[in-house]
Amino acid sequence: MSVKPSDGSSEPRYRSDICYAGGGESRVDRMDPAARSRVFEMLAGRGTDSSQVPLRARFYKLARVAPGQRIVDVGCGTGVDTRALARLAAPGGSVLGVDPSGALIDEARRTTPADLGVRYERAEGEKLPAVDGAFDLAVAITTLSHVADPAPIVREMVRVVRPGGRVALFDHDMGTFVVDAADRDVTRLIFDLYTREVSGMDAGRRLAGLLKTASLGAVEVEPLPLVDMEFSSYFQWVIERYPTRAVEDGALSAEAAEAWRADVRARAAAGRFFGSVVYFAAAATKP
Ligand SMILES: C[S@@+](CC[C@H](N)C(=O)[O-])C[C@H]1O[C@@H](n2cnc3c(N)ncnc32)[C@H](O)[C@@H]1O
Repeated sequence: MSVKPSDGSSEPRYRSDICYAGGGESRVDRMDPAARSRVFEMLAGRGTDSSQVPLRARFYKLARVAPGQRIVDVGCGTGVDTRALARLAAPGGSVLGVDPSGALIDEARRTTPADLGVRYERAEGEKLPAVDGAFDLAVAITTLSHVADPAPIVREMVRVVRPGGRVALFDHDMGTFVVDAADRDVTRLIFDLYTREVSGMDAGRRLAGLLKTASLGAVEVEPLPLVDMEFSSYFQWVIERYPTRAVEDGALSAEAAEAWRADVRARAAAGRFFGSVVYFAAAATKP
């Protein structure tokens, strides 16, 4: 294994595979249909996985989701949480799901029952399609980890929430990722590099600061550790894809990456997979 020396830059050099790249261009929209289906499956599977559902439920509590609320879900993806929020906001509530990807918006519309009171809109960039104070609650759920500059998004969330309303963020921090694998150095290399070089992957540690910078006080934060012993579709996604970044970066040989994956797959096949990452929920009330 060779470790590439740091170039001293603190700016991440890569964008996430499912980011909005600006200029109206979502990377998901440019994928071939097979790759796009895998994104749909990963998001839908992750949001409904038995290890993930209790974490999102804790997040909804911290956000203070309640019946009758008007809620906007920023970066709604396939609408996993948009639908859950609509159920919690009933009766009398309404939820708007917003995403820069037309393909994800189409998938969210396709998979959302008509009677849930959910609307979806494609948004370009961070500008939210709503007037000031239109919502009681704005949430962003694993959205900021795919964004190069999250501050304008959080500012927009604050703008569209009424005084006394809530802004709530939920995201993981890849710097907390652990996987039980034989080669600890390769494990550390893969996740250190991914966290440092792919913009947004350290989002978890930055959520509270983003809310404070947007002039929200009394920020509440809750760490929510996810443990997976089943090798869920989300962890499979991570184990298959993240080493590729280290290979492309020249930090790890393709053979070493494949040996690492094979070891993790073999542990999973033997019923001994163990992976964990900490999510953070952060929320505050608009004065
Ligand atoms: C990991 S997905 C999360 C989707 C959904 N919230 C969930 O948890 O299943 C990240 C989402 O952020 C969206 N996204 C990327 N860049 C964005 C931006 N600048 N503003 C809003 N959403 C963005 C992507 O299109 C994608 O749907």
